[in-house]
Amino acid sequence: MEHGVDFAALAAGSGERPRTASEFVQRVLRAAILDGRIPPGTPLRQEALAEAFDMSRMPVREALRQLEAQALLEFTPHKGAVVAEISIQDQADTYLIRRALEPVAFARSIPHLTREDLDRAEDLVDDMDREPDHGRLGELNRRFHMSLYARAGSPKLLRLIERQLVEHDRYLRFHLARLGRDRMSQEDHRAMIAAAADGDISAATCVLHRHIDVAATESDRSFQYEKQ
Ligand code: NI
Repeated sequence: MEHGVDFAALAAGSGERPRTASEFVQRVLRAAILDGRIPPGTPLRQEALAEAFDMSRMPVREALRQLEAQALLEFTPHKGAVVAEISIQDQADTYLIRRALEPVAFARSIPHLTREDLDRAEDLVDDMDREPDHGRLGELNRRFHMSLYARAGSPKLLRLIERQLVEHDRYLRFHLARLGRDRMSQEDHRAMIAAAADGDISAATCVLHRHIDVAATESDRSFQYEKQ
């Protein structure tokens, strides 16, 4: 068994009901990467996975592509798909970029946000409150943030931000999986909506700065804790 990971056991042990074959593979692998059952640096080979999951290579390839889009895998010229390193430096870098970009988008977006935009953001906060699945939490958090930046009028900036949120998602889930924290604090999220609704750009971006800084500090601490 490659690198000590029993992929067939992972495939068999998942209680998830597959919607599509590729989604099934993606979910099983993602969960195992995020909780460390498949360690960073592990190569994921299409052929071996297709055999372990007892399916053709096409859905496996699609699943690997999706995982790469989520920054969980890196494609290297010789090894193919390899599980990405989750590192404290990379995480700090992700927060640094988020902190630089998101307040800019938020400030530009606020004057153009509609009632519907704000309602959608509120719905996403409610969804996060109710969501027990770590995997879904990260996605909801990403959608929440993007919904508040959506009117920034800069698709390129939004693409850069979304890419960072996707990478951040991996750290969020990583820490939630490790620490068993099944709920994120929604106080900042609600304060961001309230300030945006008031059109108060400085208050809104101030909350966002703090939101990102606190998350960065906590994630950093969680990494230190894991090393002990
Ligand atoms: Ni957030």
